[in-house]
Amino acid sequence: MRLRKKPWIEEALQDYGDIVYTVPPAGVAGHWRAHIGAPGPLWVEIGSGKGQFIAGLAARTPQANLIGIEQVRDILYYAAQKVRAGELTNVRLLAWNAEDLTALFAAGEIDRLYLNFSDPWPKARHAKRRLTHHLFLDRYRVLLAPDGELRFKTDNHDLFMFSLEEWQREDWELVDVSMDLHADEPEDNVRTEYEVKFSAKGQPIYQAIVRPPKGVGEDV
Ligand SMILES: C[S@@+](CC[C@H](N)C(=O)[O-])C[C@H]1O[C@@H](n2cnc3c(N)ncnc32)[C@H](O)[C@@H]1O
Repeated sequence: MRLRKKPWIEEALQDYGDIVYTVPPAGVAGHWRAHIGAPGPLWVEIGSGKGQFIAGLAARTPQANLIGIEQVRDILYYAAQKVRAGELTNVRLLAWNAEDLTALFAAGEIDRLYLNFSDPWPKARHAKRRLTHHLFLDRYRVLLAPDGELRFKTDNHDLFMFSLEEWQREDWELVDVSMDLHADEPEDNVRTEYEVKFSAKGQPIYQAIVRPPKGVGEDV
């Protein structure tokens, strides 16, 4: 997703200060649920893009506390607009790189992590940048609640196979795997921008729902 850098973006984002955080509020790690204020669980999406998924999920599940993390501020701006337009009070957006995820949350704080159409980084030398690389899985398993889960969708077969191998290598539990999600699309599936685009081209959408190994969430 390449967009020309918008010189006015920092100023524009200030108008969305109630939704977008470029720095997380002091002391919020471990208290995100109280901070956002919805009664239900904490769900986090990494790489939210223009926000179609997080805004759609928020509208469908007002009881959930939702955080979208996106490192490109120009793109995050579109997500902020959707959240404001939908009057979605249960969403916050963080302009942040997921490499530094552990600075944002307390151990065991996240009930569900979403990775949607993550950048595939096809070259082997870039494998560590894939958001399902085992170095990322190590961080996720610390931050996920004991019964927490990771939900991953992609159109990219190679990335999906790589991810399955990484989860197997790290002893994650495969709860559900679909090689063609739209063949029997779950009623609660929220399509992302990329999902709409790739599905329209006739490409199958892969999905995995996985859980980290038990008893290791405590060792930060
Ligand atoms: C291919 S796009 C998919 C966007 C959206 N999830 C969708 O499905 O339509 C991947 C997004 O993840 C973001 N991203 C990639 N690596 C990231 C990281 N380490 N931290 C935060 N965002 C990241 C990119 O900037 C981009 O907006």
